[in-house]
Amino acid sequence: MSDQTDRSAVEELTEAQAKDELARLAQVLAEADAAYHTDDAPVMSDADYDALKARNVAIEARFPGLKRADSPSDRVGAAPAEAFAKVRHAQRMLSLGNAFSDDEITEFDARIRRYLGLTDDAPLAYTSEPKIDGLSLSLRYEAGRLVQAATRGDGETGENVTANARTIDDIPEMLERAPDLLEVRGEVYMSHEDFAALNARQADQGAKTFANPRNAAAGSLRQLDPAITAARPLRFFAYGWGELSAPLAETQMGAIERLAALGFVTNPLTALCDGPQELLAHYARIEQARATLGYDIDGVVCKVDDLALQARLGYRATTPRWAIAHKFPAELAWTRLEAIDIQVGRTGALSPVARLAPVTVGGVVVSNATLHNEDYIAGRGASGEVIRPDEDGAPKDIRVGDWVQVYRAGDVIPKIADVDLSKRPAESEPYAFPAACPECGSDAVREPGDSVRRCVGGLVCPAQAVERLKHFVSRAAFDIEGLGAKQVEAFYRDGWIAEPADIFTLKDRYGPGCLTQLRNREGWGEKSAKNLFEAINEKRKIPFGRLLFALGIRHVGEQASNLIARNYGRWDAFTAAMDAAAGLDGPEWERLLGIDGVGEVMARSLVQTMTEPHERAGIERLVAHLEVEEAAAPDTSGSPVAGKTVVFTGTLERMTRAEAKARAEALGAKVSGSVSARTDLLVAGPGAGSKAKKAADLGIEVLDEDEWLALMGAT
Ligand code: IVH
Repeated sequence: MSDQTDRSAVEELTEAQAKDELARLAQVLAEADAAYHTDDAPVMSDADYDALKARNVAIEARFPGLKRADSPSDRVGAAPAEAFAKVRHAQRMLSLGNAFSDDEITEFDARIRRYLGLTDDAPLAYTSEPKIDGLSLSLRYEAGRLVQAATRGDGETGENVTANARTIDDIPEMLERAPDLLEVRGEVYMSHEDFAALNARQADQGAKTFANPRNAAAGSLRQLDPAITAARPLRFFAYGWGELSAPLAETQMGAIERLAALGFVTNPLTALCDGPQELLAHYARIEQARATLGYDIDGVVCKVDDLALQARLGYRATTPRWAIAHKFPAELAWTRLEAIDIQVGRTGALSPVARLAPVTVGGVVVSNATLHNEDYIAGRGASGEVIRPDEDGAPKDIRVGDWVQVYRAGDVIPKIADVDLSKRPAESEPYAFPAACPECGSDAVREPGDSVRRCVGGLVCPAQAVERLKHFVSRAAFDIEGLGAKQVEAFYRDGWIAEPADIFTLKDRYGPGCLTQLRNREGWGEKSAKNLFEAINEKRKIPFGRLLFALGIRHVGEQASNLIARNYGRWDAFTAAMDAAAGLDGPEWERLLGIDGVGEVMARSLVQTMTEPHERAGIERLVAHLEVEEAAAPDTSGSPVAGKTVVFTGTLERMTRAEAKARAEALGAKVSGSVSARTDLLVAGPGAGSKAKKAADLGIEVLDEDEWLALMGAT
């Protein structure tokens, strides 16, 4: 597409030329529309059509007064009926762990060395580059041609924004001498200058303005009409890749250089750093340059340079072990604390929330901040230590009416850093944390050792019930399209659903025949009602791990749910095992504790919830409507250890314990901490003690480290 030349030409048009050009474009595009929609005989390629539409929008943006009554911009040409189509990423798009201090970078380096078994003085190179504050995009090239662009979405599934990405100048349409299959990943962003101009234009036209360049970039990329995206000046920095048919290089730096050679824009502040001290020095350099870059960055990303080491380090649930984001310090602002509200969460936790006089912190208006718990309000941390000392070292508490200092770091919920005691109103009183649940009136008790006060109302507490339902339908849980937090609240309020099982009988109760009931609700039409029932039906078949996570059991998060699911395989095997572990002893209890990654607190919470009669009855009512899929073992076709239970003991010499465990799990093995009759393999390094003896007694196969590596085909 020749929008580069077209766009610069727009800049040079006189008003009279622009008027003529808009008339010409209106005619050409109307003919093209008719040919396409009415005659089914397109007269131009999609790309040419998009380019003309973009040109039309760009001219209108420059001369708003010339916009025609029959402007092609107001016609929805072939915009998809639905929002964007979904795209499943061939390789997940992950996020980054954060570091907020120099120490955390030193610790990042130390952690990597420990994992890889490297000494403190072994050379270990990193790349360091700005963390662009935009939105990530994955570009798929096949045979050198851009075939798809997708947003990150939830990391597994994003939105197809190909037509829009094609309008971005920094994104090449064709690549020469690229691997046959190449997914390039990077950040879409808007420069400060373009952002200011866009907002000025929007304001002129009485259209909505954007809070910051990031929002403007996101709003512009996610436009159903690519012509609008084309008229918004977006840019793209390439910093990584996804699926590949051939490696780009042997190092991160080499791969970035290769992407630059292929025609991508890479960040000029990317540098190679030898160890953590150089990482910190480069961070300081980037921080210095921050104000003059002309675009927003919110930190610096450090990545292990050697790609073979990156592969060994691998990933945690959602973040790579080989990279970290070193964030800039949060921005601060002072404002008045107007009230403290208490929110009750799904596990009954009473969370105090600060209601603030709105204040802008780092470009975003903040009017709420978390206050964590009653100790935090009183100025004390988890172990009773003073977290906000006054001049005498006594804790400064937080009171309604106080002037407080608010900060945000990244996407984190705003927090309160400090209190200005000199501005405290004379009549102010220390905050009295409620001892009863504000939602249901039940006692709110604080167990010894817990910093949180919890409502004991359980299912009778409406706040807990609603929060549990919201969690149940959330993205990582049942993810029912059309049934979000807002709908759940409304349905709960009206008595349509009280517990998860009710979602699956909604149609029988309010559906056919009664369809009008749903249709007549505010915000619902025939189509959305039908879609909702279909979306619910689709989720009757659900993976074990998702179901477990959706139950919202305390201490059992998404990763743990999947881990447990993989270990038990089938739902009925799991419930039987929980029943057998009800006494918190015996072999099934031991087995649960033996799962690497399951601690005592989690195990207890899991067994107690699964065997508590009311909870269990609710779960059974739900499961009666479901087909629970057996836990999908990782794709380990051909793996000699898939499904086997492996225990490591003694000292491993060629890799660390953490690495051994991660690799075994990636190959489908279950790694357990203790030897039992269920153990299939014991990998014993030098110094193995009682575990090796027990394994021998039980007749379990024992391998040394070399044999183990040979078995995995990784010597
Ligand atoms: S590397 C495996 N490099 O930050 C993930 N990310 O917080 C590799 N981002 O989703 C990401 N600048 O959208 C990487 N130079 C950079 C980046 C960068 C911005 C974003 C990206 C990612 C998010 C993670």
